[in-house]
Amino acid sequence: MEKELVLVLDFGGQYNQLIARRVRELSVYCEMVPYDISFAEVEARKPKGIILTGGPASVHEIDSPHCDPRIFSMGVPVLGICYGMQLLALELGGTVKSSHLREYGRTSLQINQQSLLFKDISSPTQVWMSHGDSIESVPDGFQIDAITGNCPFAAFSDIERKLYGVQFHPEVKHTLEGMKVLHNFLFEICGLKGDWDLSDFISEKVEEIRRQVGDKKVLCGLSGGVDSSVAAALVHKAIGDQLVCVYVDNGLMRKGESEQVIDTFGRHMHMNLVFADAGERFLSKLAGVKDPEKKRKIIGEEFIRVFEAEAKKLGKIDYLVQGTIYPDVVESGTKTAHTIKSHHNVGGLPEDMQFELVEPLRLLFKDEVRALGTKLGLDDEIVWRQPFPGPGLGVRVLEEVTPEKVKILQDADYILREEIKNAGLERQIWQYFAVLPPMRSVGVMGDGRTYAYPIILRAVTSDDAMTAEWAHLPYEVLDIIARRIVNEVQGINRVAYDITSKPPGTIEWE
Ligand code: XMP
Repeated sequence: MEKELVLVLDFGGQYNQLIARRVRELSVYCEMVPYDISFAEVEARKPKGIILTGGPASVHEIDSPHCDPRIFSMGVPVLGICYGMQLLALELGGTVKSSHLREYGRTSLQINQQSLLFKDISSPTQVWMSHGDSIESVPDGFQIDAITGNCPFAAFSDIERKLYGVQFHPEVKHTLEGMKVLHNFLFEICGLKGDWDLSDFISEKVEEIRRQVGDKKVLCGLSGGVDSSVAAALVHKAIGDQLVCVYVDNGLMRKGESEQVIDTFGRHMHMNLVFADAGERFLSKLAGVKDPEKKRKIIGEEFIRVFEAEAKKLGKIDYLVQGTIYPDVVESGTKTAHTIKSHHNVGGLPEDMQFELVEPLRLLFKDEVRALGTKLGLDDEIVWRQPFPGPGLGVRVLEEVTPEKVKILQDADYILREEIKNAGLERQIWQYFAVLPPMRSVGVMGDGRTYAYPIILRAVTSDDAMTAEWAHLPYEVLDIIARRIVNEVQGINRVAYDITSKPPGTIEWE
């Protein structure tokens, strides 16, 4: 039976990915496509519903984005959100007035509860608005379903043609009953059942990977990160020993991390795992180098050399697994994501290596990747691993990196992680780690004076690392961490907590 599909036409709004995620959370498979997708392709894909997103343009601008208007008469239900609603109004004969004033923020929505889109939603209900232009008159055949104090056309519909529009953003949390609005569109209006299920995804992908690679050899650069780990586990399920994973230990991993990779992928999952123990090589290249960007470059280049050398030993390899996930695909313009990621996880790969890519997670959001990892039997420690920069502790030992400093940092960082876990805070914090600055200070321990390094603790909350808040860790937790670090880690006599948000700070110190 054909699977249900909803197409989300992307007009460039800042919340667009969120729309697609919300739809998937409601167990409906959807894909984001460029707004100018051809009508023929829309028809061929047989969507059961179409959502037009918001966007920064005004419908009156000369080259404002428009979709093919034949989409509105296919008989497939359409929901226009914000810009999408205005476009719907304009294309079907209504009018939109330009305004330089924005309506922005929470507002109260009065609704006509007869409308299917608002079934079981209270009135008034709080919604989130963010628009400049507004609709001035609705097209023939449309009724007004909701209003706000500032906006007489906050929602409209043409029930006959199954066309719906909302000026507010149902996808953001500030719209308190937004999920219900989306639910009503998908289930009441489009009549969907909600058949998106990761177990089916696994079996379909396994077939697809087998078809793609046949009996050829496939290489995967494993970093220990969530995406490459889940991608490797999925490809391994499909082709077993045809997959070879290469893990490069650059000596700049966190304490216990390399052992965990060997344990999980080598011992438990019986993967063909090549472990390149290259720590000394990286550290000798880093000797005497202080500049953060130089350190990044050295670590990146060295990674390529080691990876290349290991790959060469394996003979001819035709395919390379990449842990590309949906936000990477959408962010790079929906169409252009077939280039190898230059940073992240595997740290950049040789340009002259010719592989065809296997990207089994290309259509999944991060939360789906995690759920998939769990279904494939990966431990929570891997599935919920916090983001970790490619250059690793190389940018957390500030200025010159030495083996002694890496060891001090690893030990302190380990205690921080252990205590965050003990306090049950792991999943509430985006990243938490320790930083070792290149300076010492005076302290006193027992009867003696010490002259040792301080350690800086950093913990931030964030949704996407673009902005971040310093995490308000309980004093008791900070207290235990500080005591343990000073007592247990030789070479540290002081602990500081970084309370800078981003901006103006960055998450990392280098
Ligand atoms: P900043 O420090 O710029 O970090 O606020 C934002 C996010 O990016 C990560 N980060 C890196 N990741 N290679 C990476 O793969 C890098 O060189 C790098 N520098 C920062 C950082 O951990 C945070 O999640």
